[in-house]
Amino acid sequence: MTTQACDACHRAGVGWTPVTAYTHRTAFYKAHRASVLCSSCHTNNNEVIAWKYAGYKPDCAGCHAGDFKQGPHKKVDSPVIYYSVLELKDCSGSCHQYTNSTLTTISKNRSGQHRPTGSF
Ligand code: HEC
Ligand code: HEC
Ligand code: HEC
Repeated sequence: MTTQACDACHRAGVGWTPVTAYTHRTAFYKAHRASVLCSSCHTNNNEVIAWKYAGYKPDCAGCHAGDFKQGPHKKVDSPVIYYSVLELKDCSGSCHQYTNSTLTTISKNRSGQHRPTGSF
């Protein structure tokens, strides 16, 4: 439900669907590709989201924790140490690999992965 004016979301001349006009005010919204429908996040027909993994709100993991696969998220290659979803809850910034378990020297940086306007 919303109390906003029709033209916050709909534009004359465009038709009722698809909804292209809406600009979020909340900082919790992260721009996604247009193919991700309003109803993919607003599953409860409400302005407030039903955060699937509420403990991680407002980070990416608040919605995507279930997409996390440990396998590719290694801290150290050998002997292997993995990242947890908590450490990578914003899906960016901290995902690099170290040379060994002292976690002092980075051997591999990863950037440009998992942009919400791209793909996983
Ligand atoms: C916060 C955004 C928002 C506001 C404000 C809003 N709508 Fe919508 N409206 C939507 C969305 C999302 C859909 C579904 C679009 C789709 O299915 O692609 C929709 C769909 C519709 C449809 C098409 C229904 C169908 O089944 O084809 C109509 C008609 C409509 N709205 C009328 C209104 C009117 C009239 C108002 C003002 C009283 C209004 N809307 C306000 C977001 C909004
Ligand atoms: C990727 C997820 C996502 C998508 C897609 C999405 N929203 Fe939202 N939206 C959010 C989040 C997160 C909030 C903040 C809710 C909360 O605090 O729980 C929000 C809040 C809102 C609000 C409250 C006012 C505001 O702007 O903060 C409205 C209205 C809204 N969304 C409409 C829409 C419409 C219309 C669409 C489709 C055109 C849409 N949303 C698509 C995540 C999404
Ligand atoms: C409020 C919930 C929510 C938040 C927060 C959120 N997403 Fe999403 N995201 C979705 C939904 C829903 C989809 C569409 C269904 C799916 O692929 O799971 C999606 C899809 C995606 C996709 C696939 C896009 C495509 O078109 O295939 C990527 C990549 C993505 N999100 C990355 C992110 C990243 C990175 C963040 C944090 C910056 C983030 N998301 C935050 C709800 C969210």
